[in-house]
Amino acid sequence: MTYPARAARIHKYGPPDVLEFDNVEVAEPGPGQVVVKNNVIGLNFVDIYYRRGTFPVPELPYIIGNEGAGEVLAVGKGVSDFVVGDRVGYCDDINGSYTTARLYEASRLIKLPSDISDEEACSVMLKGLTARYLLKEVTLLKAGDTVLYHAAAGGVGQIFAQWGKALGLNVIGTVSSDLKAEVARQSGCAHVINYRTENFLDRVLEITDGQGVRAVFDSVGKDTFHQSLKALAIKGMLIVFGKASGDLPDLNPFDLAPRALQLAWPILPQYVSTRNELVLAATDLFNAIRSGTVNATPDRVYSFDQLVQAHSDLEERRTVGSTVLTVS
Ligand SMILES: NC(=O)c1ccc[n+]([C@@H]2O[C@H](COP(=O)([O-])OP(=O)(O)OC[C@H]3O[C@@H](n4cnc5c(N)ncnc54)[C@H](OP(=O)(O)O)[C@@H]3O)[C@@H](O)[C@H]2O)c1
Repeated sequence: MTYPARAARIHKYGPPDVLEFDNVEVAEPGPGQVVVKNNVIGLNFVDIYYRRGTFPVPELPYIIGNEGAGEVLAVGKGVSDFVVGDRVGYCDDINGSYTTARLYEASRLIKLPSDISDEEACSVMLKGLTARYLLKEVTLLKAGDTVLYHAAAGGVGQIFAQWGKALGLNVIGTVSSDLKAEVARQSGCAHVINYRTENFLDRVLEITDGQGVRAVFDSVGKDTFHQSLKALAIKGMLIVFGKASGDLPDLNPFDLAPRALQLAWPILPQYVSTRNELVLAATDLFNAIRSGTVNATPDRVYSFDQLVQAHSDLEERRTVGSTVLTVS
């Protein structure tokens, strides 16, 4: 038996309209697998890297997308933790979520609690688990530390600012417009810099009395990299975790030596690679939502049919916060 589905596939790399809707068949689940019916699909900037070919996909046409929430439609042999009808979510960087139904490894599914809706789950799973490991696992941060986060009004950015404030950090956020500045402030940034109209390095040094920050969280890449390094305090760490503006310039590691700086490029999958890590991180995230630390309401909700528009809005920097797509 197969399960009919409607999927958005890229047939070639390029702008948002390379995404085309096709009818596909989802195979019977193999051992350890389930078929998930997606009710909501999460939109993430990494989807744009795959659509453009910045990150290559194994073959074309290809279903991209890295986050979904819905219910279990069928289970394969050996699956004991999930039954048909269970509410589940997922956010691995393995693509394939732009579809009404798909196969998934049961061991990688997150069971959704009854007080977290599919829309909320898709708003925060990938972005919230990312903000979480950035704040809690990449480097040791303590209350009172000042850190810099670029694109602070974005999906990961808002959650980072909310959670960072709750952990006692002074988050300096950069944004590209006054509207986004207000959003970043509301999310918990202690200071906000419009990096289109102000030199963010000068402002960071001003805010920190010339000392620089303990860590910079930089997913912008090309446009911010060198200045981000200069914004660090001695022994500070530059955490690069994306490249929305393009590839990073070359760096000789020896250039880090005079100020004993550290450079890291972490990725979420390596922080939730075991079942135990995934469940612990998801539980921590859901608790942060319940306590009011993290706001799980998506900023934008599109229908799955509006996928091309949603991609274009995210790529052209028209969004703030999280975007989700509902499947009817
Ligand atoms: N390594 C990991 O584990 C991991 C996991 C999840 C996400 N990420 C990365 O984290 C970043 C944030 O992801 P997200 O889904 O929450 O996206 P997002 O922050 O909502 O959107 C990206 C933001 O980047 C800023 N930006 C700066 N230069 C840009 C440019 N040339 N083109 C487009 N945007 C530009 C824009 O904010 P302004 O207009 O304010 O500049 C834009 O809103 C992405 O780079 C993503 O790849 C990494």
